[in-house]
This record gives sequence, C-alpha cells and structure tokens, in this order.
Amino acid sequence: MCGIVAYVGEQQAREILVDGLKRLEYRGYDSSGVAILGTPPYLAKAVGKVAALEQRVSQENPLGSVGIAHTRWATHGKPTEANAHPHLDCSGQVYLVHNGIIENYQALKNRLIGGGHKFTSETDTEVLAHLVEEAYSGSLESAVQKALLQVQGTFGIAVMHAAHRHQIVVARRGSPIVLGVGSNESLAASDVSALARHTDQVVFLEDNEVARLEPGTFSITTLENKAISREATTLEIGPEAMELGGFPHYMLKEIFEQPEAVENAFRGRLNHSEGVAKLGGLESVGDRLRAARHLIIVSCGTSYYAGLFARYVFETLTDLAVETELASEFRYRKLNLRQNTVVLAISQSGETADTLAALREAKRKGALVLGLVNVVGSSIARETHAGVYCHAGIEVGVASTKSFTTQLAILTLMALLMGRSRDLSYEEGMSVIHGLEKVPGDLRRILEQSERIRKLAEKYCEARHFLYIGRKYQYPIALEGALKLKEIAYIHAEGYAAGEMKHGPIALIDNSFPTVALAPEDGSYEKVASNIQEIRAREGRIIAVTSEGNSRLGQLVDDVIEIPHNHEILTPLLAVVPLQLFAYHCAVLRGCDVDKPRNLAKSVTVE
Ligand code: F6R
Repeated sequence: MCGIVAYVGEQQAREILVDGLKRLEYRGYDSSGVAILGTPPYLAKAVGKVAALEQRVSQENPLGSVGIAHTRWATHGKPTEANAHPHLDCSGQVYLVHNGIIENYQALKNRLIGGGHKFTSETDTEVLAHLVEEAYSGSLESAVQKALLQVQGTFGIAVMHAAHRHQIVVARRGSPIVLGVGSNESLAASDVSALARHTDQVVFLEDNEVARLEPGTFSITTLENKAISREATTLEIGPEAMELGGFPHYMLKEIFEQPEAVENAFRGRLNHSEGVAKLGGLESVGDRLRAARHLIIVSCGTSYYAGLFARYVFETLTDLAVETELASEFRYRKLNLRQNTVVLAISQSGETADTLAALREAKRKGALVLGLVNVVGSSIARETHAGVYCHAGIEVGVASTKSFTTQLAILTLMALLMGRSRDLSYEEGMSVIHGLEKVPGDLRRILEQSERIRKLAEKYCEARHFLYIGRKYQYPIALEGALKLKEIAYIHAEGYAAGEMKHGPIALIDNSFPTVALAPEDGSYEKVASNIQEIRAREGRIIAVTSEGNSRLGQLVDDVIEIPHNHEILTPLLAVVPLQLFAYHCAVLRGCDVDKPRNLAKSVTVE
C-alpha cells in the first residue's frame, strides 16, 4: 500500500527519494509525489507509475538536500494529482506525507474549514498538514505532537517545514516507520527496502512516537514529548536483496530462492538428539504452550492457506483442537477463548490490518497470541506475546511464494515442538525432521522443470477458467495454486477440495475448462485418482501433479508434473512450487505485470 521515503543530509535528495519510491513500488500504489526544500521549494506529483514522476523530476532537476516522497494507494478520494501526497497547509510552509487512515478526519476538517483553512484535496491526510500549521509556533516537532494528539486512526507520517531546512519529523501509530542513520545523513521510510542501499543502521519507531531527523542524528519522543532513548540496530538484509540478480522478475527470483529460504527457516532449529524443534522465540511461553488445548490460526490470503495446511499438521502431530479462520471474519465469531487457547497470527508482512485486528481481539480476550511473521520488527511481530520469524528474506514480488513455503516449514516445526511435549514419539518426530532436511534438495529438482512447466503454460494459458483440486494436505495447495493464477495471470481459477467437486463445480467441466489435480501418492491418492476419472469422463483436460515414477495415471491425464517422494506432511511444500511456476509462466505469456499485479498491494494495511 502507500509508501514513504524521507531524506535529510548532504546529497541531492531527488535521486535518493525517487530511487526509494521505486523500491517501494512493490507494495502497490496508484500515484506518487515528491517535495524538496530547495530554493524555491519543489513539489511534483504524478498519477500512475513512479516512472512518470521520475521523468518529470529528472527533467526539472530540483536542487535541495531535504525532501519527502510518497506512493499513494487511494482510500479517500480518487488517484489524482490533487489527492497525491505530499499535502500542504494554507501557508505552503508545511509538507506532509501519510500512510494510514485518519478516522475522525471529517470532524477535524469541518472544524478547520470553520477556522478559515482552505482544502485542495479529498483526502483524509490533508487535515494533518492543516493541524500542524495550526499548532506550529516555532518547533515542527512540537506542532506534529500537538496535531497528532487530536487524531483518531492510524498514521505513519513524514513532515517538513520551509523554516526548518535541515530537519524532517516523522511519527507512527499503526503504520510502520523505520529510520536509517548514515554519516551526515538520515533517512526514514515505511519499509527497510527503501533504506538498505544507504545504511544498515536502522531504528524502528514504535506506536505513538515522534522522531526528529537531522543529518546523521535523530531523537525520539512520545506524542506527549517524553524523551525515548533507542539505539540503532544493524539491518540483516544487504542492498543486493532488492536486486533482480539476473532474473527477469522478482517473483521468479523468489521462486528459485525457495530451497535456500526453507533451509534458512529450519537452520539451527532442529534438535536431532530429542527429535524435536528448537524455537527460541517460543521459549518464554513454553509452559502455556504445554498447557494449551485449543489452537486458532488467523491470517489472510496465502497466509490463510498456510493456516489451513497447519490445521492438518497440528491435528496429526498434536492433540490440540485446531481451527483456522480468516482474520477478516474472526471478529464476527463468538469464539470461546480461554486461558488454554492459543491464537496464532500468520503474516508475511506483519502489517496486514485484518490480522492485526484479530490478534488484538484475541489478546483482549485473554488468549496467548503467537506470531509467524517474515518482516522483522513489523507490527504483528511486536504485538504478539511470542513468535517465530520465517527467515525467508525480503519478498518483493506482490504474490507470496517463498514466504508461503517457509511458513509451511515453520508451522511444521511448531507442530513438532508441541507434539513432542505431548504424545508424539521420537521416531515420528525424527521422520518429520528427516523429511524437512530433504525438502531443499527436492525443491531444487522441481525447479529444474521450470522450462517444461513454461511449455505447459504455453499449451494452457489461453484457457479462461481453471479448476484446482486436492484433498487433505493438498487441499490448501489447490486453493493457493488457484489464487496464484488469478492474481498474477488474471485467469479465473477455482480451488476446491477434490471431494466437493461433484457437489457443484463438476457442472463446469468440459474440454475448455482444464483441471490441475494434486495427486501425490499419499493417503488420499486413490480418492483423487477417482476424481480425475470423473473429470476425464466429462472430457476435461487434466494436468496432474504426482509423485516421481507414478505411471498409474497413464491415459487419464493430459500432462504430468512429477515431484519427489517425501513425508506426506511435507509434500505440500513441494507441490506448490510447480503451481507457482505455472502461474508465473502463464502471466508472462499473457503479458501481465508479474511483480505488480493490478489492484493488489504487498502489504494490506486497510481492513
Ligand atoms: C497472495 C498474497 C496475499 C497475502 C495476504 C496476506 O500471493 O500475497 O494473499 O498472502 O494479503 O498478507 P500477509 O501474509 O502479509 O499478512
């Protein structure tokens, strides 16, 4: 969603700001803008791609070494230049960019208009610029504090004032802001990816904090002006994490990073002598985990499918009663959350608004709330009682790939940990561990089939509809495969539990409606093979994902993609990869913008 970059230092701000915006493009946006405090101050906005803004800025070549920039994903008001950020106050002295939503903006706007303020946009953000103007009496920091104390809702903001040419003030509540501190320069952004090229020294702002940035230094206070002392931490991702490294798209790069990402996810977390997982982030809540009886998993989109997978795994390896719920629906249910209920929030970004809202609700009701998150220091990581990081590395492509497979790996480890403190035997624990250790090699073998899968994509990518089917462990993978095809190739696809097929969707099957059938040789194989027969009988074309060497599908299917044999629990980590590749190649063949699919955002920070 919206992105923020701010710079104050000795270099020309324009390139740093525009480059930062380009690195935030993956979050999703529809317009952008930049302001630089030069002589005279410079303001430019553009609708559409950052490239349009970049072209304008490079032609106009504004000078100045303090500036703020923004990519906007419209909420209040259409994507127009007038609504794009930065927004200004009446005097043209205050420049402000904002991520989040000001819930009481209408009341504030009415009051400000009553006081003579003139508005030029339909946004909620603009009230903030006028509130800062109203509160300003010489200190920008103090004006921002006073303005934000009147605000309900969420914000990550960056503000400049024409009278303070070596200063930027930033603040957050519910929308991330990270500071980057270099020598003689300071930066701030909504996402570390915009900072990684400039510094590895970062500071994560907490909710209701305000920071004043000057070249090479920063200070933090609360909204009530209480000083906060915080040291910078060293960023673990290097600038190369944001480069394509020879791949045509981030999505393909990230698909190919999966063997290493999964290895990183379980590295140092396996205890062979005890047949158990070692998850340092859960040690502080070990007693409550041992006493747990009920697990509720909340998440959205691809992370929700990881949660559906986890339901089967936890039920197999532990004695917990498990429910998986869409975070956006969680609040509508009257769930009995007790002392022995654990709520697990799964999120790549750690910022998904629905998931955050669900975990806050669960905390309010007394549950132990855990997180499984990829982005270090994100809101979900900070608000849960304890948790585990995915260690997938930065994921730039909007469609989740490596974050999904690492989620599956860690969910398996969590279930193993809880299972071994219950009735799971050492041998059963070790067989999961051995399977997991084999996954990176298995993934490498599947990735070798990318070119073959591209040819399949050529054969099928003109189809307008697809059905994806699977049972038990493969059911969430059917849903995920269909989602990938929808979101990046814009092909309608239905993911279904294979057993449900004859309760409705089979009516759609004919030779123009292909099916992707997940049929590894596991406990559900025979039943899925029967479903394949039923589709064949109706002239449906079928691509089957099955185990290496399985020749039993014979003439029943049109095409086969083979995956290595592994523990049944771990086969989903393998089966999803050909589906990611299939969706990717279909999208490329159809000329789609793979890394930035239309209407989507990497981090969905509105409910
Ligand atoms: C699909 C995808 C989305 C996200 C969903 C939740 O490829 O990426 O469906 O999975 O928006 O996001 P996180 O995991 O960041 O909470």
